[in-house]
Amino acid sequence: MTARGDPPPGPRSRWWGLPLLRAMFRDYLGFTANLQRLHGDVVAMRIGPERSWDLFHPDDVRTALVDHADHLVRWERGVEVFAQTFGQGLLVAEGEAWRRQRRMLAPGFMPRRVQGYAGLMVEAAREALEAALPPGLDDAVLPMEDLFNTLTMDVIMRTLFSNRAPDLAHAAAQATQVLSRAAMQEMFWPVSLPDGLPLPHKAAKRRALRVLNDLVGGQIDARRHLPAAEAPNDDLLAMLLSVRDDDGSGLGADELRDQCMVIFQAGHETSATALLWWSWLMAGHPEVSARAQREVDEQLAGRDPDAATASSLPYLQATLKEAMRLYPPVAGVMTRRVVRPFELAGRTLQARTLLRITPWVIQRDARWFPEPGRFRPERFLDETAAVPRSAWMPFGVGPRVCIGQHFAMLEMTLVAALLLQRCTLQCVPGEPDPRPRMYVTLRPDRPLQLRLRRRVTAPAVGDA
Ligand code: HEM
Repeated sequence: MTARGDPPPGPRSRWWGLPLLRAMFRDYLGFTANLQRLHGDVVAMRIGPERSWDLFHPDDVRTALVDHADHLVRWERGVEVFAQTFGQGLLVAEGEAWRRQRRMLAPGFMPRRVQGYAGLMVEAAREALEAALPPGLDDAVLPMEDLFNTLTMDVIMRTLFSNRAPDLAHAAAQATQVLSRAAMQEMFWPVSLPDGLPLPHKAAKRRALRVLNDLVGGQIDARRHLPAAEAPNDDLLAMLLSVRDDDGSGLGADELRDQCMVIFQAGHETSATALLWWSWLMAGHPEVSARAQREVDEQLAGRDPDAATASSLPYLQATLKEAMRLYPPVAGVMTRRVVRPFELAGRTLQARTLLRITPWVIQRDARWFPEPGRFRPERFLDETAAVPRSAWMPFGVGPRVCIGQHFAMLEMTLVAALLLQRCTLQCVPGEPDPRPRMYVTLRPDRPLQLRLRRRVTAPAVGDA
């Protein structure tokens, strides 16, 4: 029996917990998985003045993120680091400011609305694949990160701004990577060093921020100067310009810039990461890939995919879900701070405690996913399988669940369907397996190269 006041078990914190912090920085995922292995489903730690709990049981995750969402805020340090890029956008806002923004943006991300972007998504995917494997070339070894970063960036540019800005796209993709890496490093510093300091990584970060600000600011300015008759009225920017809260107010200039920045950043790097791991898993599992190809061939019969056919590809969608189970793009959701105490797992969780929730560990737990290390998409087709709610949580759970989840699932399904319809993915012999490394998203530790081979039976481009 545990008394309510007893802290949960956890590692001993000598030297103010600094060795724990160092171990966490070196290998965040391995360190966190070990906490569960050694101490159980609720683990307490002390690092410096901070007490934290790690939650590994899906029921406890729900108790915290769903039932007691209003007892939590995002960890101030995480907010501070992200706000340097995103301003006060949806991702970092709290309280009434967050509720207002979420209320205003949510209709624009409902499944029905998002389906309207299917055509643009397919166009972007078709062009990216044609550039990767131009006519006359039947196979090529490709840096997959470039392929998917460029593709998902193109999708977000078209859906957000109706404009591809191809001259800026490459620099913007690189800038996003620089900012992700900088953000992860800065999370482990207790305070932000001023960005003006003449340190090499600060200069890279300043340049990256300038690239993204110019891109997003330039697109908003260009739209404001367009005559109303020429301005697109069906993209996300048009939605952001027209949304009104219950009291009739719209988004201010800074709010508009911040939301565009969040949607631009959160909306492409995550999907690119998911597709990257998916492509590697598919290349390494030819039997899974062949089954998904059969489904695509049967359902599409040579046509391009669209919003309606995307929902008739359950096996393909299961391959994407299984890839995000094994390699969740957001491997650890943003740490939360408890602002009011509540009961959790038979104990009182005190105010000021930090909560860490790590889908990477929860989604590899054999209690919910037998043979957790195996890539087995069928597990998502078996509706009798007793997976607790929230054991699969790549988009988070509770009121702060990813607002772009329908957008992302549709985009990834369309890209994956088009890719498998036209090509087969293969591993390159001799290439070492990529290992996951946590930046803000879960990236491979080395550039991933795969062979893309044109299918003999693939429909000619434009066939209907
Ligand atoms: C595979 C793709 C994606 C994954 C895995 C993903 C994952 C997540 C996760 C886990 C969260 C919650 C984080 C937390 O609770 O701390 C989140 C929030 C968010 N995501 Fe996504 N996301 C994806 C795609 C997108 C897309 C395409 C967009 C926009 C077009 C988007 C926009 C956002 C925004 C704005 C939030 C903040 C929501 C809020 O706090 O109210 N995401 N995402």
